[in-house]
Amino acid sequence: MDKYPTILAIESSCDDTSASVLKNGQILSNCIANQDAHQLYGGVVPELASRAHLENIIPVVNQAVNVAKIELESLDAIAITRGPGLLGSLIVGLSFAKSLALSLNIPLIEVNHMQAHVLAHFIDDPKPKFPFLCLTVSGGHTQIVLVKDYLHMEVIGTTIDDAAGEAFDKTGKMLGLPYPAGPVIDKLAKEGDVKFQFAKPKIKDLDFSFSGLKTSILYFLKKRIKEEPDFIKDQLNDICASVQNSIVEILIAKLIKASQETGIKEIGIAGGVSANSGLRKALERTANKENWNIYLPKVSYCTDNAAMIAIAAHYKFLENDFANQDIAPLARWSL
Ligand code: KG4
Ligand code: ZN
Repeated sequence: MDKYPTILAIESSCDDTSASVLKNGQILSNCIANQDAHQLYGGVVPELASRAHLENIIPVVNQAVNVAKIELESLDAIAITRGPGLLGSLIVGLSFAKSLALSLNIPLIEVNHMQAHVLAHFIDDPKPKFPFLCLTVSGGHTQIVLVKDYLHMEVIGTTIDDAAGEAFDKTGKMLGLPYPAGPVIDKLAKEGDVKFQFAKPKIKDLDFSFSGLKTSILYFLKKRIKEEPDFIKDQLNDICASVQNSIVEILIAKLIKASQETGIKEIGIAGGVSANSGLRKALERTANKENWNIYLPKVSYCTDNAAMIAIAAHYKFLENDFANQDIAPLARWSL
């Protein structure tokens, strides 16, 4: 083995099948098969997701190994997302990873998907210094994480109902946009103006809530459509800009509060919603005002990917933190 391990990582917690090879702390490949089947249904259909993982996993792993130009025999460990996520999806990746580790006679490393989103900050430079705060915003989670070390982190704020990504996706459904709506709203918002305001949650501490915003948007749309049947079609860009602005304001307000309470000015964002251009710009503006050092992983490391699983596994390998062959997937798994 070189000074540092060569790891093949697999991620299959939701609807993307991904595989990545990491060698000496460097990502050599990060391959992803996205699933289109869910667009028809306006959300991820768990049964369809697991079936698609079964079809995609061997081609994606082969591609990751080929792009990295390594031999399977040179691997030191197989890393796998154990949770949180959809059980059927996790089972496909976990069973495959266990079999491959057994056949190559190398250890298995279990990775927490949410921890991996945070550790995506350690793939490229510049890297945050500990301790830092990470706003992890995805389709299933909204968390402010106090990151003390690579493998020691604490959730200091979370959503009490919907996740930020769900707020984008459910609004998209009301507007007749395809799933996932987050990137579509992001694109349309660029052509629109913030013309409409929606109810702001009044949640104490560092927790979030998005269900009130969703209801506020729904009643607003119903009222305006009654007055003007083509309201959505005519004002789509402005509606998207306004919704995005509301979600971003809620996220940034809590991040400022978390920074003030902890005194930490090293701030990162992670998860699918951190790809949002409005959030990224708002974070840059806030950083100037609040004197923050901010860290924005590149977009392909924000949405679900196996490179983040590989970097998390790298740090676990260095701690000799290996998993047993009898582990089962975890639909829920707190940090
Ligand atoms: O982290 P991720 O890829 O998967 C989960 O672990 O959930 O996050 C997916 C979420 C979806 O809700 C999607 O709409 C949202 O991230 N998303 C975005 C953008 N790109 C992805 N939301 C807003 N703006 C984007 N550019
Ligand atoms: Zn994710």
